Amino acid sequence: MTGASSGLGVDFADLLAAQGYDLVLVARRQEPMEALAEQLRFKHGVDIVVEPADLAVPGAAAALKERLDARLFQIDVLVSNAGYGVHGDFLDTPIARTVDMIQLNVSALTELSYVFGRDMAVRGHGHILLVASLLAFQPVPTYAAYAATKAYVLSLGEALHDELRSCGITVTTLCPGHTETGFDAAAGATASAALRMLTMQPRPVVQSGLHALWKGRASVTAGVMNKVVAFSNRLMPRFMQRAAMRRVLGP
Ligand SMILES: NC(=O)c1ccc[n+]([C@@H]2O[C@H](COP(=O)([O-])OP(=O)(O)OC[C@H]3O[C@@H](n4cnc5c(N)ncnc54)[C@H](OP(=O)(O)O)[C@@H]3O)[C@@H](O)[C@H]2O)c1
Repeated sequence: MTGASSGLGVDFADLLAAQGYDLVLVARRQEPMEALAEQLRFKHGVDIVVEPADLAVPGAAAALKERLDARLFQIDVLVSNAGYGVHGDFLDTPIARTVDMIQLNVSALTELSYVFGRDMAVRGHGHILLVASLLAFQPVPTYAAYAATKAYVLSLGEALHDELRSCGITVTTLCPGHTETGFDAAAGATASAALRMLTMQPRPVVQSGLHALWKGRASVTAGVMNKVVAFSNRLMPRFMQRAAMRRVLGP
């Protein structure tokens, strides 16, 4: 599972280990993953391997797959959770930061789904959980490129849900709303009062994602309030969706 050094990734690792899964933890920061691995081995008695990697480097997903193949590891459940947002005016954000985010949120996630999905197809079974966002449902000024990456993830995930079913692979896309993690700090954002009222803790978000995955759902939005937001959004014209998002998320 990717993005295992903080936030949602920690709860994904804990819940999967509690279900008896051996894990491969991937993110850039090795230390928090080693500490988590130690804790989960003790708590759940499973094997955990830490694989530090910068997935925003082109080709990183294929390189990771090669390293795991060399150790004869087989991935039955891929949780593609690593990602971050870039908050602020598009033209004021260094383009290298935006491109790096696209590389991680879009290219690495796609490549991971491909390299591990092909193995799962050969075996005739597997599970893939992609982490998108509530921002996937509409354009979001001040999170313009980030929201666009998550719209891609949701679209890819739902299409692959249908396409890979015949290979025995379940693909589910999780859309969290604002969640108490390292996300805001990484994005350079401060949550507004309105957003703080909707903020969820990571645990129930992760539980809803895994529940949907095991149930074979195409996608799930975490939390009742976020489901209401996603649904009411559909009833609004797009200019109103943008205005509402700007009010809640803008500077
Ligand atoms: N929290 C929210 O409000 C929210 C809402 C909707 C969607 N999401 C999505 O949820 C996912 C998890 O984010 P989070 O909320 O848990 O935030 P987080 O606490 O900042 O976690 C992000 C994870 O991604 C990893 N990561 C970042 N850049 C990476 C890179 N280049 N290569 C490998 N790993 C990298 C980070 O580890 P390192 O820094 O150690 O690499 C970290 O483990 C993301 O896809 C995010 O877009 C979050």
